[in-house]
Amino acid sequence: MKAVLYDRHGTVDQLYLADVPTPEPAPGEALIRIRACALNGFDPMMLAGTTGLRIPFPMTPCGDAAGEVAGFGPGTDQAGRQVGDRVMIDPIIEGRGMLGEKAPGAAAEYLAVPLGSLVPIPDGVSFEHAAALPVAYGTSLRMVEDRARVQAGETVLILGATGGVGTCCVQLCKRLDARVIATGGSSGKLDRLRAIGADHVLPSRSNELVRLVREITGRPRYHDPESGGVDVVINYIGGATWAASLKVLRFQGRMVTCGATAGYDPSTDIRYIWSFEQTIIGSDGWSRAGLVRLLAMVAEGELEPVIHAVRPIEDVRTAMGELMRRKVFGKSILTL
Ligand SMILES: NC(=O)c1ccc[n+]([C@@H]2O[C@H](COP(=O)([O-])OP(=O)(O)OC[C@H]3O[C@@H](n4cnc5c(N)ncnc54)[C@H](OP(=O)(O)O)[C@@H]3O)[C@@H](O)[C@H]2O)c1
Repeated sequence: MKAVLYDRHGTVDQLYLADVPTPEPAPGEALIRIRACALNGFDPMMLAGTTGLRIPFPMTPCGDAAGEVAGFGPGTDQAGRQVGDRVMIDPIIEGRGMLGEKAPGAAAEYLAVPLGSLVPIPDGVSFEHAAALPVAYGTSLRMVEDRARVQAGETVLILGATGGVGTCCVQLCKRLDARVIATGGSSGKLDRLRAIGADHVLPSRSNELVRLVREITGRPRYHDPESGGVDVVINYIGGATWAASLKVLRFQGRMVTCGATAGYDPSTDIRYIWSFEQTIIGSDGWSRAGLVRLLAMVAEGELEPVIHAVRPIEDVRTAMGELMRRKVFGKSILTL
């Protein structure tokens, strides 16, 4: 079968398509013919080796995938599943870890996974849309609804809102009737952020974030809940945006993070945390119930995944390169 591999950390030049043995499903596993997989922000980090995580080589990228059941391991209780069933794979595999991170990922024609990792795809949801959802949309749903608990009428600042997680956060916050301020890296991306519902857009590469946000919301005042500022910052960028975010949060505002694209050990300003009684919230991963709900939302036309491009797997270097150069809006899908 075809699979994308890399043997060491580096740039897109390390990625290559190889002919490798098709995996044999073990008892309790299904063999999945992958039809679509998706890149995430962590794929370039894994390839470049910037996370500090030790990963097994050769590595295959992509945590997200959707496809068809092609077979079962010997003696497997199929639990009602049939060859040909359309399924999404929940990317954290019991005993193996995260696909594309601890375990070889889904940019391959076949993957053998435990039956418990399969989530049925409802009719009317394409493989491409299903593959867009698990990591980015699953994480966004948990972060916006369960962890930050965004409420109608609140103002939410979403930094680097143009990727998979960010575009989903914009959509979810708008569904909740929040006001969204979103940052993006080019005028084209800012237009697209407006088109998916952002109320205000700001350049993400500006070092005047604090002034620009305060122009929209007013200035937060110490111990004054009626003053300006945003109620929630969704900040998975980290780096220099971290301390700036504290300065635009309303009194008793909250900042939620699920990552640190621009650096995980930024300087901060603890004075804002105590004097404005701010809450810093971590959010990690997704729930199975969240994935099922997202698939249902897409099936019912309530949510449309934002797709940057759908390309054949042979174009993996182009797709990964775009992600590294911040040229992506939404999800980058590869088909097999
Ligand atoms: N904990 C979890 O369970 C979990 C799950 C999913 C994702 N995450 C994390 O969430 C973050 C977003 O994921 P994603 O897949 O949406 O990523 P992404 O698509 O690669 O990035 C999101 C946006 O960040 C901006 N960006 C990229 N590189 C940057 C840099 N060096 N400095 C500042 N901004 C940069 C880009 O926006 P502009 O170019 O438009 O500014 C990009 O569109 C990542 O840190 C990822 O690791 C965590």
